[in-house]
Amino acid sequence: MLRLRAPGVWSLTGRQVGPVNRDLVAPASEVSVNSVRNRLALLFFAIVAAAVGFIYLYVVPQLRSSLTAEQLRRLEAVGSEQGARLDAAMTAGISQQRLRALVRGIDQRTGSRVTVLGVREGDSGPQPSFVVADSELERTAVLPGYPAASVAAATGSAASAVETVGGERRGESAIALSDEGEPRWVAVFSTDLADVDDNVDLIRRQILIAGTIALLAALGAGWLVARAHARRLRRLEKAAEKIADGDFSTPIPVDSSDEVGQLAVTFNEMQKRLERLDSARREFIANASHELRTPIFSLSGFVELLEDDDPDPEARAEFVRTMREQVARLDKLTVNLLDLSKLDADAIQIRREPVELGDVARRLAGEFGPAAERHESAIEVGEGAAAAAAADPDRVAQIMRILIDNALTHTPEGTTIKVGAHIDNGSASLVVADDGPGIELRARERVFERFYTGDEVGGSGLGLAIARELALRMDGTLELRSRRGRTEFELRLPAGAARSRG
Ligand SMILES: Nc1ncnc2c1ncn2[C@@H]1O[C@H](COP(=O)(O)OP(=O)(O)OP(=O)(O)O)[C@@H](O)[C@H]1O
Ligand SMILES: [Mg+2]
Repeated sequence: MLRLRAPGVWSLTGRQVGPVNRDLVAPASEVSVNSVRNRLALLFFAIVAAAVGFIYLYVVPQLRSSLTAEQLRRLEAVGSEQGARLDAAMTAGISQQRLRALVRGIDQRTGSRVTVLGVREGDSGPQPSFVVADSELERTAVLPGYPAASVAAATGSAASAVETVGGERRGESAIALSDEGEPRWVAVFSTDLADVDDNVDLIRRQILIAGTIALLAALGAGWLVARAHARRLRRLEKAAEKIADGDFSTPIPVDSSDEVGQLAVTFNEMQKRLERLDSARREFIANASHELRTPIFSLSGFVELLEDDDPDPEARAEFVRTMREQVARLDKLTVNLLDLSKLDADAIQIRREPVELGDVARRLAGEFGPAAERHESAIEVGEGAAAAAAADPDRVAQIMRILIDNALTHTPEGTTIKVGAHIDNGSASLVVADDGPGIELRARERVFERFYTGDEVGGSGLGLAIARELALRMDGTLELRSRRGRTEFELRLPAGAARSRG
């Protein structure tokens, strides 16, 4: 704690946790897929690719089948409208010529090819087997297979289907034309689906082009956005490296209020706190070395005097008494410094058990009896009700010692010191009061600071700092009330079940 150390990583308690090892952290920009920039760009790319793929592989086929279904519905509507006319004409024995004129007329009006097929009984029931009339027969090189007609002939009702003829899809709707209840002909209304397929192909091509552009844009935009973020993060990384080197001077510019901006704000706050801690640590080390040097310097002076001169026994006894005082001071100082460093490092174990504060007060009043006598002071113990606290008995005694020691050290001879315990508002209190001169208002605000001393007594100024720190660790408080002619310190602790500690 007291040694000055090389720059490195410091914990909040001032302990060096370890040296900065930058080899362990590879700069993000050097690691291709692991960098935030590339990962974000890839993520953007993947999202757009998934969206384009979904449209291309799912939405477009859906569109194609719903446009096809639309065409089939139109053909079915034509069939149910024109089928009755054809049925009547066929049953009436229309001539071939008039039938051909009729189907052409329907074709022209409806835009659908009309084919009348004759039905014969086959192996598997009635089958359409020859063309009776066709509105387009002269123009068609390849004859369709008419799968809808087969179903209509077999079932005697209407049917629709899509058939591929010469590489092109055709939609068909067939109606059975019957004579005396027997299906003898089938009328097929058909149309090619080239328009539907052309439109779907066009949409597909456009999706591919737009998709490619969107993918490239996503990749580029993702990369640019991520690069901007990566730069800001890199700035934070550089600032963290500086702090690790012990340089707290440069705050990070806060350029936005987003998460990274917030991080920069928190980072700057942390930097300020670390700076304060660091200067407190330096100040502490400087004070501690100074406090240690004073008694050592005085001791070495006396040793030299004893060596060089040959003092008379009376002077020698005086030297030895002063030297003993300095050694006692050094001893107290090192114990205090050790306590403080333990408190800072959170290395102090605080027990929590029932402590009867009245007992502690009585015991310590007895312990300080001889010292009080030397000081011609009196320590009075108040007779109060039982005041049990949940605390660490050793630490309570340590605080009490600090307070009684102060009441004896910083007051003139003949001062009366009163110690007492009581329960108040659910907390147990231990009070040490004296009728000394009191503490001035300005000093009152500082007595709990480390190394603060308000008089010429020659203390090191650590007692009350340790006492308050210990009180806090036991979830308690240590408060000072002082006016001219009276100083009172009150230690408040959480109340606990009574158990006498004899
Ligand atoms: N009962 C008291 N009456 C008057 N002044 C007091 C009293 N208690 C504390 N003080 C003032 O508060 C200062 C800080 O006390 P603290 O116990 O922290 O340090 P110290 O007594 O000077 O040194 P040490 O570390 O040896 O205890 C003292 O120097 C003194 O000026
Ligand atoms: Mg003291």
